[in-house]
Amino acid sequence: MEFTDKVVLITGASSGIGAATAIYLSKLSAKLVLVGRNEKNLKRIALYCEKSKEIKPLAITADVTNDVDAERIVNETIEHFGTLDVLINNAGCIAMGGIKNSTMDSYDKVMNTNMRSVYQLTMLAVPHLIKTKGCIVNTSCIASTKPSTMALAYNTSKAALDQFTKCVALELATDGVRVNSVNPGFVKTNLLKDIGLNDEQLVHFAQNVVGNMPLKQPVEGEDVASLIAFLASDKSKSITGSNYVIDGGSLLR
Ligand SMILES: NC(=O)c1ccc[n+]([C@@H]2O[C@H](COP(=O)([O-])OP(=O)(O)OC[C@H]3O[C@@H](n4cnc5c(N)ncnc54)[C@H](OP(=O)(O)O)[C@@H]3O)[C@@H](O)[C@H]2O)c1
Repeated sequence: MEFTDKVVLITGASSGIGAATAIYLSKLSAKLVLVGRNEKNLKRIALYCEKSKEIKPLAITADVTNDVDAERIVNETIEHFGTLDVLINNAGCIAMGGIKNSTMDSYDKVMNTNMRSVYQLTMLAVPHLIKTKGCIVNTSCIASTKPSTMALAYNTSKAALDQFTKCVALELATDGVRVNSVNPGFVKTNLLKDIGLNDEQLVHFAQNVVGNMPLKQPVEGEDVASLIAFLASDKSKSITGSNYVIDGGSLLR
Protein backbone atom coordinates (compact mmCIF):
# COMPACT_ATOMS: atom_id res chain seq x y z
CA MET A 1 0.00 0.00 0.00
CA GLU A 2 1.25 3.43 -0.95
CA PHE A 3 0.51 6.69 0.87
CA THR A 4 3.36 8.89 -0.36
CA ASP A 5 2.08 12.49 -0.67
CA LYS A 6 -1.37 11.46 0.61
CA VAL A 7 -2.76 13.75 3.31
CA VAL A 8 -4.61 11.68 5.92
CA LEU A 9 -6.63 13.26 8.74
CA ILE A 10 -7.27 10.99 11.75
CA THR A 11 -9.52 12.00 14.64
CA GLY A 12 -8.91 10.33 17.99
CA ALA A 13 -5.25 9.86 17.07
CA SER A 14 -3.98 10.43 20.62
CA SER A 15 -4.88 6.93 21.86
CA GLY A 16 -5.92 3.37 20.99
CA ILE A 17 -7.05 2.49 17.46
CA GLY A 18 -6.45 6.03 16.13
CA ALA A 19 -2.89 6.12 17.47
CA ALA A 20 -2.19 2.64 16.05
CA THR A 21 -3.56 3.81 12.67
CA ALA A 22 -1.38 6.93 12.74
CA ILE A 23 1.73 4.86 13.44
CA TYR A 24 0.79 2.30 10.76
CA LEU A 25 0.22 4.99 8.10
CA SER A 26 3.39 6.89 9.08
CA LYS A 27 5.34 3.78 8.06
CA LEU A 28 3.63 3.99 4.65
CA SER A 29 4.82 7.62 4.21
CA ALA A 30 1.45 9.37 4.73
CA LYS A 31 1.33 13.07 5.54
CA LEU A 32 -0.66 12.91 8.76
CA VAL A 33 -3.04 15.30 10.49
CA LEU A 34 -3.59 14.03 14.04
CA VAL A 35 -6.54 15.26 16.10
CA GLY A 36 -7.33 14.77 19.80
CA ARG A 37 -7.99 16.76 22.97
CA ASN A 38 -5.08 15.48 25.04
CA GLU A 39 -2.16 17.58 23.76
CA LYS A 40 0.52 15.60 25.60
CA ASN A 41 -0.62 12.25 24.18
CA LEU A 42 -1.11 13.76 20.73
CA LYS A 43 2.43 15.18 20.67
CA ARG A 44 3.85 11.84 21.84
CA ILE A 45 2.14 9.98 18.97
CA ALA A 46 3.16 12.70 16.48
CA LEU A 47 6.80 12.38 17.52
CA TYR A 48 6.62 8.59 17.22
CA CYS A 49 5.12 8.91 13.71
CA GLU A 50 7.75 11.42 12.63
CA LYS A 51 10.50 8.90 13.42
CA SER A 52 9.18 6.44 10.79
CA LYS A 53 9.93 8.40 7.59
CA GLU A 54 10.92 11.85 8.89
CA ILE A 55 7.57 13.34 7.80
CA LYS A 56 6.32 15.71 10.51
CA PRO A 57 2.60 15.25 11.24
CA LEU A 58 0.36 18.23 11.89
CA ALA A 59 -1.02 17.78 15.42
CA ILE A 60 -4.26 19.67 16.10
CA THR A 61 -5.52 19.81 19.67
CA ALA A 62 -9.28 20.03 19.26
CA ASP A 63 -12.63 18.77 20.49
CA VAL A 64 -14.49 17.25 17.54
CA THR A 65 -17.85 18.02 19.19
CA ASN A 66 -17.10 21.75 19.12
CA ASP A 67 -18.33 23.43 15.90
CA VAL A 68 -15.54 26.03 15.90
CA ASP A 69 -12.90 23.35 16.44
CA ALA A 70 -14.33 21.26 13.59
CA GLU A 71 -13.91 24.17 11.16
CA ARG A 72 -10.42 24.85 12.51
CA ILE A 73 -9.42 21.19 11.95
CA VAL A 74 -10.25 21.33 8.24
CA ASN A 75 -8.97 24.90 7.73
CA GLU A 76 -5.61 24.19 9.42
CA THR A 77 -5.24 20.98 7.39
CA ILE A 78 -5.71 22.84 4.10
CA GLU A 79 -3.52 25.77 5.17
CA HIS A 80 -0.73 23.38 6.18
CA PHE A 81 -0.81 20.67 3.51
CA GLY A 82 -2.92 22.35 0.77
CA THR A 83 -5.12 19.31 0.21
CA LEU A 84 -6.93 16.36 1.85
CA ASP A 85 -6.99 12.79 0.52
CA VAL A 86 -8.33 10.67 3.40
CA LEU A 87 -10.61 11.42 6.36
CA ILE A 88 -10.61 8.84 9.17
CA ASN A 89 -13.48 9.58 11.57
CA ASN A 90 -12.27 7.55 14.52
CA ALA A 91 -12.77 9.62 17.70
CA GLY A 92 -15.39 8.03 19.92
CA CYS A 93 -16.61 7.46 23.44
CA ILE A 94 -18.90 5.09 25.30
CA ALA A 95 -21.35 5.44 28.19
CA MET A 96 -22.95 2.59 30.07
CA GLY A 97 -26.67 2.21 30.67
CA GLY A 98 -29.88 1.02 29.04
CA ILE A 99 -33.24 2.79 28.71
CA LYS A 100 -33.96 2.29 32.45
CA ASN A 101 -30.71 3.65 33.81
CA SER A 102 -29.11 6.22 31.49
CA THR A 103 -29.30 10.00 31.31
CA MET A 104 -29.89 12.47 28.50
CA ASP A 105 -26.47 13.99 29.30
CA SER A 106 -24.73 10.70 28.53
CA TYR A 107 -26.91 10.23 25.42
CA ASP A 108 -25.92 13.73 24.18
CA LYS A 109 -22.23 13.15 24.88
CA VAL A 110 -22.15 9.83 23.03
CA MET A 111 -24.25 10.97 20.06
CA ASN A 112 -22.36 14.26 19.75
CA THR A 113 -18.99 12.51 19.76
CA ASN A 114 -19.77 9.36 17.76
CA MET A 115 -22.27 10.72 15.24
CA ARG A 116 -22.85 14.51 15.14
CA SER A 117 -19.13 15.33 14.98
CA VAL A 118 -18.68 12.81 12.14
CA TYR A 119 -21.57 14.41 10.23
CA GLN A 120 -20.08 17.86 10.64
CA LEU A 121 -16.43 17.03 9.93
CA THR A 122 -17.45 15.03 6.87
CA MET A 123 -19.56 17.96 5.58
CA LEU A 124 -16.58 20.28 5.96
CA ALA A 125 -14.11 17.81 4.42
CA VAL A 126 -16.19 16.68 1.42
CA PRO A 127 -15.42 19.64 -0.91
CA HIS A 128 -11.70 18.88 -0.47
CA LEU A 129 -12.17 15.11 -0.83
CA ILE A 130 -14.09 15.62 -4.08
CA LYS A 131 -11.13 17.58 -5.49
CA THR A 132 -8.72 14.71 -4.71
CA LYS A 133 -11.21 11.87 -5.36
CA GLY A 134 -10.30 10.84 -1.85
CA CYS A 135 -12.01 8.58 0.65
CA ILE A 136 -13.46 8.31 4.14
CA VAL A 137 -13.12 5.52 6.71
CA ASN A 138 -15.35 5.65 9.79
CA THR A 139 -14.61 3.65 12.95
CA SER A 140 -17.88 1.97 13.85
CA CYS A 141 -18.27 -1.16 16.02
CA ILE A 142 -19.96 -4.57 16.02
CA ALA A 143 -22.31 -2.95 18.55
CA SER A 144 -23.97 -1.30 15.54
CA THR A 145 -25.70 -4.57 14.67
CA LYS A 146 -25.44 -6.64 17.87
CA PRO A 147 -28.03 -5.55 20.44
CA SER A 148 -26.94 -5.30 24.08
CA THR A 149 -28.52 -4.09 27.32
CA MET A 150 -25.33 -2.37 28.51
CA ALA A 151 -24.67 0.69 26.33
CA LEU A 152 -27.82 1.79 24.51
CA ALA A 153 -26.60 5.23 23.37
CA TYR A 154 -23.33 3.73 22.12
CA ASN A 155 -25.05 0.95 20.14
CA THR A 156 -27.50 3.50 18.72
CA SER A 157 -24.71 5.89 17.70
CA LYS A 158 -22.80 3.17 15.86
CA ALA A 159 -25.95 1.91 14.08
CA ALA A 160 -26.50 5.47 12.88
CA LEU A 161 -22.87 5.68 11.79
CA ASP A 162 -23.22 2.55 9.62
CA GLN A 163 -26.23 4.03 7.83
CA PHE A 164 -24.41 7.37 7.49
CA THR A 165 -21.50 5.49 5.88
CA LYS A 166 -23.79 3.84 3.33
CA CYS A 167 -25.84 6.96 2.48
CA VAL A 168 -22.78 9.17 2.03
CA ALA A 169 -21.08 6.43 -0.02
CA LEU A 170 -24.08 6.39 -2.37
CA GLU A 171 -24.21 10.19 -2.59
CA LEU A 172 -20.48 10.62 -3.26
CA ALA A 173 -19.94 7.65 -5.58
CA THR A 174 -20.39 9.79 -8.70
CA ASP A 175 -17.79 12.20 -7.30
CA GLY A 176 -15.29 9.35 -7.08
CA VAL A 177 -15.18 9.52 -3.26
CA ARG A 178 -15.40 6.17 -1.43
CA VAL A 179 -16.84 5.82 2.10
CA ASN A 180 -16.51 2.71 4.28
CA SER A 181 -16.40 1.75 7.93
CA VAL A 182 -14.44 -0.68 10.07
CA ASN A 183 -16.52 -2.41 12.74
CA PRO A 184 -14.23 -3.85 15.40
CA GLY A 185 -15.16 -6.12 18.25
CA PHE A 186 -13.39 -5.62 21.56
CA VAL A 187 -9.91 -4.07 21.36
CA LYS A 188 -7.99 -3.31 24.57
CA THR A 189 -7.68 0.50 24.56
CA ASN A 190 -8.54 3.35 26.93
CA LEU A 191 -12.20 3.34 25.79
CA LEU A 192 -13.47 1.33 28.75
CA LYS A 193 -11.26 3.23 31.21
CA ASP A 194 -13.50 6.22 30.46
CA ILE A 195 -16.40 4.38 32.07
CA GLY A 196 -14.40 3.70 35.19
CA LEU A 197 -12.83 0.26 34.63
CA ASN A 198 -9.41 0.07 36.30
CA ASP A 199 -6.45 -1.86 34.82
CA GLU A 200 -7.28 -5.05 36.74
CA GLN A 201 -10.96 -4.97 35.69
CA LEU A 202 -9.93 -4.26 32.10
CA VAL A 203 -7.60 -7.28 32.03
CA HIS A 204 -10.39 -9.47 33.47
CA PHE A 205 -12.91 -8.10 30.93
CA ALA A 206 -10.44 -8.67 28.07
CA GLN A 207 -9.76 -12.27 29.14
CA ASN A 208 -13.48 -12.92 29.26
CA VAL A 209 -14.17 -11.44 25.80
CA VAL A 210 -11.20 -13.17 24.16
CA GLY A 211 -12.20 -16.46 25.81
CA ASN A 212 -15.57 -16.18 24.08
CA MET A 213 -14.11 -15.27 20.68
CA PRO A 214 -14.08 -18.14 18.19
CA LEU A 215 -10.49 -17.23 17.18
CA LYS A 216 -9.41 -17.04 20.88
CA GLN A 217 -6.89 -14.26 20.23
CA PRO A 218 -7.25 -10.54 20.98
CA VAL A 219 -7.94 -8.08 18.19
CA GLU A 220 -5.07 -5.58 18.40
CA GLY A 221 -5.17 -1.90 17.47
CA GLU A 222 -2.67 -2.65 14.71
CA ASP A 223 -5.03 -5.25 13.19
CA VAL A 224 -7.72 -2.58 12.89
CA ALA A 225 -5.13 -0.07 11.62
CA SER A 226 -4.15 -2.36 8.75
CA LEU A 227 -7.82 -2.77 7.74
CA ILE A 228 -8.31 1.01 7.87
CA ALA A 229 -5.16 1.45 5.76
CA PHE A 230 -6.47 -1.05 3.19
CA LEU A 231 -9.83 0.75 2.95
CA ALA A 232 -8.04 4.10 2.65
CA SER A 233 -5.72 2.84 -0.09
CA ASP A 234 -6.12 2.34 -3.82
CA LYS A 235 -6.11 -1.42 -3.18
CA SER A 236 -9.79 -1.05 -2.22
CA LYS A 237 -10.75 1.10 -5.23
CA SER A 238 -13.86 -1.03 -5.90
CA ILE A 239 -15.16 -0.93 -2.33
CA THR A 240 -17.64 1.66 -1.08
CA GLY A 241 -20.55 1.65 1.37
CA SER A 242 -19.25 -1.39 3.27
CA ASN A 243 -19.12 -1.99 7.01
CA TYR A 244 -16.10 -4.24 7.62
CA VAL A 245 -16.31 -6.44 10.71
CA ILE A 246 -13.03 -7.27 12.49
CA ASP A 247 -13.88 -9.13 15.69
CA GLY A 248 -12.10 -12.48 15.98
CA GLY A 249 -15.40 -14.09 15.01
CA SER A 250 -17.39 -12.60 17.94
CA LEU A 251 -20.48 -11.93 15.80
CA LEU A 252 -20.64 -15.59 14.82
CA ARG A 253 -21.96 -16.44 18.29
N1 LIG B 1 -11.79 -0.45 21.90
C1 LIG B 1 -12.83 -1.15 21.43
O1 LIG B 1 -13.13 -2.26 21.90
C2 LIG B 1 -13.60 -0.63 20.25
C3 LIG B 1 -14.42 -1.53 19.56
C4 LIG B 1 -15.15 -1.07 18.48
C5 LIG B 1 -15.06 0.25 18.10
N2 LIG B 1 -14.26 1.10 18.78
C6 LIG B 1 -14.21 2.49 18.32
O2 LIG B 1 -12.88 2.86 18.07
C7 LIG B 1 -12.77 4.28 18.15
C8 LIG B 1 -11.51 4.62 18.93
O3 LIG B 1 -11.68 4.15 20.26
P1 LIG B 1 -10.50 3.43 21.06
O4 LIG B 1 -10.97 2.08 21.42
O5 LIG B 1 -9.21 3.57 20.37
O6 LIG B 1 -10.57 4.26 22.44
P2 LIG B 1 -9.57 5.30 23.11
O7 LIG B 1 -8.24 4.67 23.31
O8 LIG B 1 -10.30 5.81 24.29
O9 LIG B 1 -9.45 6.45 22.02
C9 LIG B 1 -10.50 7.36 21.78
C10 LIG B 1 -9.92 8.51 20.99
O10 LIG B 1 -10.99 9.42 20.68
C11 LIG B 1 -10.58 10.72 21.06
N3 LIG B 1 -11.73 11.52 21.41
C12 LIG B 1 -12.79 11.18 22.19
N4 LIG B 1 -13.64 12.21 22.29
C13 LIG B 1 -13.11 13.22 21.57
C14 LIG B 1 -13.51 14.55 21.28
N5 LIG B 1 -14.65 15.05 21.78
N6 LIG B 1 -12.72 15.32 20.50
C15 LIG B 1 -11.56 14.83 20.00
N7 LIG B 1 -11.13 13.58 20.22
C16 LIG B 1 -11.90 12.79 21.00
C17 LIG B 1 -9.62 10.50 22.23
O11 LIG B 1 -8.71 11.59 22.29
P3 LIG B 1 -8.55 12.61 23.52
O12 LIG B 1 -8.83 11.86 24.77
O13 LIG B 1 -7.16 13.11 23.36
O14 LIG B 1 -9.55 13.65 23.20
C18 LIG B 1 -8.87 9.26 21.78
O15 LIG B 1 -7.81 9.60 20.93
C19 LIG B 1 -14.07 4.77 18.78
O16 LIG B 1 -14.89 5.32 17.77
C20 LIG B 1 -14.69 3.51 19.35
O17 LIG B 1 -16.08 3.57 19.42
C21 LIG B 1 -13.52 0.69 19.85
